[in-house]
Amino acid sequence: MSETEFAMRLGAWFVDFVDHLVPKRLLRLLAHPKFHALIGAERIEAIGGWIDNTFMLKRRQKRCREQQNDQSTKDYLESRFCANPFRMIETTPTGLAYVCCPIWLPTPIGRLDTEPERLWNGDAATRIRESILDGSFRYCSHLHCPAITGRTLPSRDAPESRAIVERYETGLARLPEHLVLSHDKSCNLSCPSCRSSVYMADSRKQERLDELSERTLLPLMREAKSAMITGSGDPFGSKHFRNLIKRLNGGDFPQLRLELISNGQLLDRRGWGELNLRNRVRYVQISIDAAQASTYAVVRRGGDFRRLRRNLAFLRELRTSGEIGRLEFSMVVQTLNYREMPAFVKLGEEFAADSIIFNMIRQRDIFSREEYLEAFIGSPDHPQYDAFVETLKAPELSQPNVQIGNVLEYVKRAQAGVAV
Ligand SMILES: C[S@@+](CC[C@H](N)C(=O)[O-])C[C@H]1O[C@@H](n2cnc3c(N)ncnc32)[C@H](O)[C@@H]1O
Ligand code: SF4
Ligand code: SF4
Repeated sequence: MSETEFAMRLGAWFVDFVDHLVPKRLLRLLAHPKFHALIGAERIEAIGGWIDNTFMLKRRQKRCREQQNDQSTKDYLESRFCANPFRMIETTPTGLAYVCCPIWLPTPIGRLDTEPERLWNGDAATRIRESILDGSFRYCSHLHCPAITGRTLPSRDAPESRAIVERYETGLARLPEHLVLSHDKSCNLSCPSCRSSVYMADSRKQERLDELSERTLLPLMREAKSAMITGSGDPFGSKHFRNLIKRLNGGDFPQLRLELISNGQLLDRRGWGELNLRNRVRYVQISIDAAQASTYAVVRRGGDFRRLRRNLAFLRELRTSGEIGRLEFSMVVQTLNYREMPAFVKLGEEFAADSIIFNMIRQRDIFSREEYLEAFIGSPDHPQYDAFVETLKAPELSQPNVQIGNVLEYVKRAQAGVAV
């Protein structure tokens, strides 16, 4: 081996080492409460954000490319279209913006504090749109995107698809029509699938987030037709999101309709009134993850099942009166709750949910490998895998109001011996 070759191998080994070991361990260390006390929450957050936006982001992109290994998916995508990169922006807690969900399409289009039109029309956004038009979908996760796994994408030649591209190309889509606001992780719960402890932004962080509202978010919201709050924390548990929703009062946002994703604990008649949500919400999704109080107490740490049921009854009223247009319940499927999947469909029916969504638990940086292997029921090596596959045969799960998300895709891939 020549010296240059040796140096290159050593370099590659080092990058691999840093990429595979350091960030994850560091992130887990940073999440430790003792470390928080020692270094200070603000610095921890800055370091964590930097690690996530560099190493972890690269790792997610690499994983995404590796998942593009299924030929039937590639053949399917050749003639398909997706509107998301032509119509939406999603924000993240690390201050980046994406044109789809960052898990499904892990390539950002820029920093959130960039001037909105420059962000929307920058190089990265253009390249992503090109990848949709050339049928490669090379920035998309062929495993995590439900539109790809569920084969629900429209044809590229459909008149609606052509109209969306034309609108963008002729400059009519000056800014996104849909926003997903996920830049604050503050939440009243600490579900183990999501975080190791409760997170609430401190007052300085909240101030910075509120400044971002004035500079970027409100200008975007003036042009948008809909805004989803939130995929990161909780719309009712976060002070920043509550402030933002209160700012939407007045005539400046006549066309904007809200979509809320919440744990539902604080979504009661009082919360609805305080945020003046009447006639401004078109969709609500409540993440519940359990059909029984004992399971709920574990998977939704800090939540109270009785309180949830009271709030679900309030939501049923909103849905049946037509105040909200759609109500959905969701479950993150994991070892602790898979047996409750059929009962969860019944819970949805009891409270007038239009549909029930199941999604497989996803690896998060907070899990150790062992913790993830224990929770991830989709692996044929899991001791309860056969019972899980048996549960999936329950008639409730084939009802038309059930969205099985990527759960069956995991099973299909596992049975075909394809890496996930
Ligand atoms: C992070 S939460 C934010 C919104 C709100 N707090 C809630 O729980 O609905 C967004 C969604 O992510 C889901 N989620 C949490 N941890 C997950 C994991 N490890 N894998 C997949 N989905 C997860 C939640 O159940 C929820 O539906
Ligand atoms: S990841 Fe899925 S939803 Fe997102 S742009 Fe790609 S195909 Fe569309
Ligand atoms: S309620 Fe939502 S944001 Fe809060 S910890 Fe649970 S999953 Fe995460």
